[in-house]
Amino acid sequence: MDQLTTTSLLNLRLNNPVIVGSGLLTDREKLIRQFADIGAGAVITKTLYPAPIDTHDENIYHIGSGMLNNTTYSKRPVDQWLLMLKAFAEENLSLIVSVHAKTPAALAAMAGQIASVTDAPLELGISCPHDITADEDTPDRVYRYADAVRRHTDAPFSVKLALGDELVNRVEAAVAGGAQAITLSDTLSGLAFDRVTRQPALGGPCGYSGAGIKPFVLAAIYRLREKGITLPILGSGGVQNGGDVLDYLLAGANAVQVYTALHYKCGKTLKRIIDEYRSITGAMPAVPGQEEDI
Ligand SMILES: Cc1cc2nc3c(=O)[nH]c(=O)nc-3n(C[C@H](O)[C@H](O)[C@H](O)COP(=O)(O)O)c2cc1C
Repeated sequence: MDQLTTTSLLNLRLNNPVIVGSGLLTDREKLIRQFADIGAGAVITKTLYPAPIDTHDENIYHIGSGMLNNTTYSKRPVDQWLLMLKAFAEENLSLIVSVHAKTPAALAAMAGQIASVTDAPLELGISCPHDITADEDTPDRVYRYADAVRRHTDAPFSVKLALGDELVNRVEAAVAGGAQAITLSDTLSGLAFDRVTRQPALGGPCGYSGAGIKPFVLAAIYRLREKGITLPILGSGGVQNGGDVLDYLLAGANAVQVYTALHYKCGKTLKRIIDEYRSITGAMPAVPGQEEDI
């Protein structure tokens, strides 16, 4: 394996930097296993939430440049997740557990429950832009969630942020709160209209993901590196092929998540992306700065 194909991140030894991001597909045990079997560096669960929000109809809506979704968090009870997480841990499946809760204290309590069944690292999925029950994402809010988790568990964690105001301050707040990595980006706020009803699709602004967001996320990661941010970054947004994975690494990410692309041909798409990435990087020299363990 060359230096671009092994990465150590959040105490996980990844056999390649392509990680399956959190979403509807990773709410399902069977698909999590399938993604792991195909060779994902790691798989991130759908975001666990202690008291699932009973909301509107949750759905996805395809647009030319990607996808809109108004889904929030897993509706599966935490107890059910704990059983699954325990089994995954016994199988040494390379997993990151995405978590969120209404308050930092509730998130910390759930993180403690998770740590009792698995050593898996966490991703704090606190920045979903269309969760209307959440407060605006500020550096102070980021710090409070990260710090609460740090105080209740030894599990390494990444804080997942969305592009937007005060990004550098939010990243610094995550670091101050004990994050060992950040994930950038969650979906962006997006809107489309249903041409027949002339009403907003999915009821209003919701989460925009897919190919169209990639240049924005790449630019943000590049700028963070220019500003001297050194902690590991998991890039997320619009990855469709192996070249996109490489773009993220060149911009300064240490690992790269793929999600929306998997809604088309699922595991086959994941395999294609990993294979393409391997064939591109097999022909390329290692990227300076990516060789050390992170
Ligand atoms: C249908 C759908 C559901 C998602 N659910 C979650 C979630 O539960 N937790 C989370 O942190 N991110 C969630 N995301 C965001 C993705 O993990 C990812 O960060 C984002 O879509 C950008 O990457 P992509 O363009 O490769 O999808 C979801 C995205 C979509 C499209």
